[in-house]
Amino acid sequence: MTETQLNSEPYFEARNLVTSLGDQLIFNDLDLQVQQGESVVIMGRSGEGKSVLLRHLLGLMKPDSGKVFIRGTDITNFEDIELMPFRKKMGILFQDGALFDFLTVADNVTFPLAEEGVEDTDDLRDRAREALKMVGLEEHMDELPMNLSGGMRKRVALARATITYPDCILCDEPTAGLDPVAAADINLLIREMVDAYNATAIVVTHDISSMNQIADRVVMLKNGKIDFSGTPEAINNSADPSIKNFILGRSEHSKGEKV
Ligand SMILES: Nc1ncnc2c1ncn2[C@@H]1O[C@H](COP(=O)(O)OP(=O)(O)OP(=O)(O)O)[C@@H](O)[C@H]1O
Ligand SMILES: [Mg+2]
Repeated sequence: MTETQLNSEPYFEARNLVTSLGDQLIFNDLDLQVQQGESVVIMGRSGEGKSVLLRHLLGLMKPDSGKVFIRGTDITNFEDIELMPFRKKMGILFQDGALFDFLTVADNVTFPLAEEGVEDTDDLRDRAREALKMVGLEEHMDELPMNLSGGMRKRVALARATITYPDCILCDEPTAGLDPVAAADINLLIREMVDAYNATAIVVTHDISSMNQIADRVVMLKNGKIDFSGTPEAINNSADPSIKNFILGRSEHSKGEKV
């Protein structure tokens, strides 16, 4: 992140978010700022609201009270159509970000361009090749997703999320279910994209090595608020017992002995 970016307005800001779903209070006066060019990893126990938070930042879900800003614009009450220009600049990889089984890898990857109205098949093919090269899957462009491994499918989804040269990427659990090497490949790709395009990134993950590889800053969601915000180094060295248990993958009922 450069000095100028640090001084400009945040890419995302959630201010005093309060959201209940059913009888559950998900956000309890939550505040979060993500600066332009910053790579933020969101961590927290399952069910704390990480995916719901991403949906709020995208305007896909609305808070009961509080506000969401994207680059200074209050989008809290925006309809889908008003959100489109903002979302167009973002690459989004949802938690269960499925590919279309009936489309080839190349057609999956260029789907957002086709939606934008790009029709020239040679253009689309060139863009697919370029994006797939970045994730090392150029050779597989004419295959169907079901013939690829889980890790390869995640890489295709990442290529699709970045085909429009987004200035921001949001990924929900991009490495879940992958072996450590495949996961490291995905982490590296996300970091490379952030560095190559100077993009803003928000990545939700439970995976500590992903956090270490991707994050400029880690935020921990707990009890409806940001419970911790700091560098990966700071969280790795935290003395807070519940953060330590999280980082070490230790039961909350453990007495602190080595597992
Ligand atoms: N559309 C919805 N309607 C009602 N409840 C919901 C909805 N979406 C999420 N929830 C609830 O909100 C809580 C937070 O869900 P969320 O998916 O954000 O958790 P998470 O932190 O992403 O968990 P995980 O790590 O398992 O992905 C959960 O209790 C979930 O059941
Ligand atoms: Mg989730």
